[in-house]
Amino acid sequence: MYKLFFRLVFSRMDPENAHHLAFRWIRLAARIPVLRTFLAAWLAPRYTELRTEAFGLRMHGPFGLAAGFDKNAVAIDGMAMLGFDHVEIGTVTGEAQPGNPRKRLFRLVADRALINRMGFNNDGSAAVAARLAAREPVFRPVVGVNIGKTKAVPEEEAAADYVKSAERLARHADYLVVNVSSPNTPGLRNLQATEALRPLLTAVREAADRTVPERRVPLLVKIAPDLADEDVDAVADLAVELGLDGIIATNTTIARAGLGLRSSPAQVQETGGLSGAPLKERSLEVLRRLHARVGDRITLVGVGGVETAEDAWQRILAGATLVQGYSAFIYEGPLWARAIHKGLAQRLRQSPYATLAEAVGADVRKDVRNPENPEKGNAA
Ligand SMILES: Cc1cc2nc3c(=O)[nH]c(=O)nc-3n(C[C@H](O)[C@H](O)[C@H](O)COP(=O)(O)O)c2cc1C
Repeated sequence: MYKLFFRLVFSRMDPENAHHLAFRWIRLAARIPVLRTFLAAWLAPRYTELRTEAFGLRMHGPFGLAAGFDKNAVAIDGMAMLGFDHVEIGTVTGEAQPGNPRKRLFRLVADRALINRMGFNNDGSAAVAARLAAREPVFRPVVGVNIGKTKAVPEEEAAADYVKSAERLARHADYLVVNVSSPNTPGLRNLQATEALRPLLTAVREAADRTVPERRVPLLVKIAPDLADEDVDAVADLAVELGLDGIIATNTTIARAGLGLRSSPAQVQETGGLSGAPLKERSLEVLRRLHARVGDRITLVGVGGVETAEDAWQRILAGATLVQGYSAFIYEGPLWARAIHKGLAQRLRQSPYATLAEAVGADVRKDVRNPENPEKGNAA
């Protein structure tokens, strides 16, 4: 039904207008008590076996909404109503900014992908903090707050901009994410280099501790799929060294080659970050690499090209405690999060693992035990 609607209506609209329209409907539905109660009862995860814990936060299910969909924290209840058990808002920057000129969001339907160069269009950390402070929640999903750099702020002053956002937003965040991986803010991804990342993460940690002394706000970093393997390892080591709570892998990719894209060259060549199905393989690879490096010392969040419950299950087996998605929501529609949680519960029941936590990283452990794979066995 949604797929027909998508074909007849959304696919003929400008993607950003379609996003705003769908967003308005979701927010409206969340304001109608009978409707939202019905939808939440139907769509929210209710499988006891999927209950899980990540960085000290209890969740009803591992699947949540990735950053970028609700940049300004205006639809947290709506997204929770649709079954996303955690909602990551943002990216929020120190100052409000309009983002890049339109057109800046493109659908690659043949590839079940999106390209975006939104450029962190958002209301800024002061306005978003005020909105979160005034929020009267109907539903209580775990709320992550993802922060990034204001475009006009030079790279050398990036840390101060992140700190400003952290000071305003940490108290409203169940967890805080330092985003250094979006491709649409010039220079942002240079902050992934450990020389830049170490002082940045240290400053944000201090800001969160200073402004929220009564609680340790979990701090995560979100990385790009385009990092070289050594750089993935370097971020992993740094995260361990700094006692970070988690790593989110991955953001969108600037790569186009080798992804088997079927859309027209004109579509494929749009500048920006590519997300959705073609990102699946590389995101999973980065996740596996991170897990091999950090084991269970750091919580991993798997995102990038997750479309089905099987995809989400593969992320969990590869080491993800939580899984997120964005692009497939556009193609799959409002029942998507429910389908993922339902399929995960089925897979868990059919697996040898009693709990979700036991399944996390099980693939790697299997490799280690596999005598036919002596290389990995010895490495353990
Ligand atoms: C239109 C759009 C906007 C996005 N904006 C952000 C953002 O502001 N901050 C961020 O960390 N990630 C952002 N992302 C990246 C997603 O959070 C996610 O990491 C990426 O899309 C891969 O997941 P997917 O394949 O399920 O979409 C955005 C993605 C899309 C498609």
